[in-house]
This record gives sequence, C-alpha cells and structure tokens, in this order.
Amino acid sequence: MRKKVTVVGAGNVGATTAQRLYERGTIDVVLVDVVEGMPQGKSLDMAESGPVLGIDASIIGTNSYNETEGSDVVVITAGIARKPGMSRDDLLFTNMRIVGSVVEEVVKKSPNAILIVVSNPLDAMVQHAYSVAGLPKNRVIGMAGVLDTARFRTFLAWELNVSVKDVQAYVLGGHGDQMVPLIQHTTVGGVSIKELLTPDRLSSIIKRTQTGGGEIVELLKTGSAFYAPSAAVAEMVDSVLLNQNRLLPCAALLEGEYGISGVYLGVPVILGSNGIERVVELELSSEENAGLENSASGVRELIEAMANAPKS
Ligand code: NAI
Ligand code: 2OP
Repeated sequence: MRKKVTVVGAGNVGATTAQRLYERGTIDVVLVDVVEGMPQGKSLDMAESGPVLGIDASIIGTNSYNETEGSDVVVITAGIARKPGMSRDDLLFTNMRIVGSVVEEVVKKSPNAILIVVSNPLDAMVQHAYSVAGLPKNRVIGMAGVLDTARFRTFLAWELNVSVKDVQAYVLGGHGDQMVPLIQHTTVGGVSIKELLTPDRLSSIIKRTQTGGGEIVELLKTGSAFYAPSAAVAEMVDSVLLNQNRLLPCAALLEGEYGISGVYLGVPVILGSNGIERVVELELSSEENAGLENSASGVRELIEAMANAPKS
C-alpha cells in the first residue's frame, strides 16, 4: 500500500510540495485549502500529468478533511505569507488561528500522523501546533533549518565554485534573522570553511543567508519563497516515510538539549519513521550557544504574545 500525505494550504508552498511528493510516484497526496475549487483544480492538473510522467499514485484536492483520513504525514502550509516590508512575526495572530484550526481537524482524521509545520512565524506556529495537537513531541516538527541550510550551502558553493553536494553545513536556531549558522561544522569536502574563505566573505554570506527569505520577498513582491521551501519539506517527508534516519536541522521541542527547555527551536535531529528519533547535540562555540539562546528568547516572546492574543 502506498503512503498517504496530506498537504494543507494549496498556495505556493503547499501546491509545490504536493507536486514534488506526487512526482515521487510512491505517495498518494491529498491537497486541502479553504478556497473552493482551487485545490481541486491544482490537483486535477497534476493528476493529468500522471500519464506523461508515468505516475499511478493519486492526488486529490478538497475543501474538507474527510479525504485526509489515515494520513501518514500531514504538512501544514496554511496561512498568509509575507509581503514586502513584513517580517515573519507580523503573521503571528492570523496564522496562529489558522494553524490551530487546521491542526484540530487534522488530528481528528489522522491521529497517528506526523505533522510537519511550515507556516510562519515557524517556531511559534509549530509550538502552537504542538499545544493544540496533543501528540507526542516527536510527531510535531517544524521545517525551516533544511531551507536555511540550503540557502547557506547555495551561497557557499557559488562563492567557491564547487558542487553544492560537497558543501556540508547546519543552520540552527529560530527561523528569523537570528538564525545560527554553525561555522565549526561547515566544511567543503571535509575542509573547514575557515580555511577556504576570508572572515569578511564568510560574514557577508552568513548575512545573506540570515536575510535570504526577505531577499526573495523583495524580488517577488507578492509573496515569499516556495521552490526551495517545498524541496526542503519533501526531503523531510522522504526521511520519515522511508525511515532514512537523515540528520537534518528541524524545529524540535527542546527539553534541556542545548541548555534550553520548553521551546521549539531549530536543531539537528535524526528524522525517521517515528518523526524525531532524537535530537543530536553538537559541540557549539560559546558564540553559537549564545546565538541559540538569543533565538530561544525571540521564540519565547512570540509564545507569550500568543498566550495574550486578542480575541477575534
Ligand atoms: P500562500 O498564500 O501562497 O498559500 C497559503 C494558502 O493557505 C492559501 O491558498 C490559503 O487559501 C490557505 N489557507 C488559509 N487559511 C486556511 C485554512 N484555514 N485551511 C486551509 N488552507 C488555508 O502562501 P505560501 O507562500 O504557500 O506560504 C504558506 C506559509 O508558509 C506562509 O505562512 C509562509 O510564511 C510560510 N513559509 C514558511 C517557510 C519556512 O521555511 N518555514 C518557507 C516558505 C513559506
Ligand atoms: C522564507 O524563509 C518566507 O520563511 C520563508 O523564505
């Protein structure tokens, strides 16, 4: 039997994620959105690519959760995206309500699913999803670190004119401008990045990574990135469905790891069929530790704001 993945939110990230997963050929995909006709139309269009691509898996679009029943993984991209001049945090209250209502519906139909949250502000949204879902922490995961790390690896590969495949890196912390690239763990073919780049060049690439989401928003003007985000989600879904046990940076609930408790934050995890199999604690420099703590403070502020959210 094929695995089943539901993607909630059929906008840019959701539809592109659904397409990437459908095109794996081994996953039945359900695409959900509140806009009538839109997820149905996008799914029908993708299904009609099946004969050309040789895909027998199914993809259906819907405005209800009935068809999502028994999903193995649910990806949540529902919400609003940034426009120029907006930070991810500006989305907080709107997306909190949307994500909360989506999670309630999703867990009723798929109590055994692993949830991958994408909606922004990511760390706060995955924390909220966890509090609403009532699922164990290993089954509620946030996507951001794979994307942020991919951006860092892209810019490093361009700078050094090497294959992206040989650039190994981790970007941890919150999915905001305070994200923390791990310099000590950044290598190209096993050679430390510090031996390959001047401090000035490295810090300008770090800056570009930290503001990478904003760079795309400024260029697109009507929304935010979706090609790289959907690729990042699909890599996480593969790791879960195929029990690959990949070591990937994901937002996980910390309970003492890295000296931080009670907040979701981007850290390296082993991702397998149980979701987060374990958090991996790397040795960090004091600056990197301080960066993580700083990110955690930012997330705590958002959690507090959500606790005092205006009633609507
Ligand atoms: P989009 O605006 O293209 O799509 C969002 C979709 O959610 C829309 O189709 C909308 O109708 C739908 N939606 C709204 N309320 C809903 C509900 N209650 N139930 C079902 N669907 C609902 O936005 P895009 O570009 O797809 O981004 C989605 C979210 O993902 C945004 O919050 C964005 O900031 C975030 N994002 C996060 C990334 C990350 O690294 N964590 C990367 C890229 C985007
Ligand atoms: C990004 O980093 C918008 O969070 C999204 O592109």
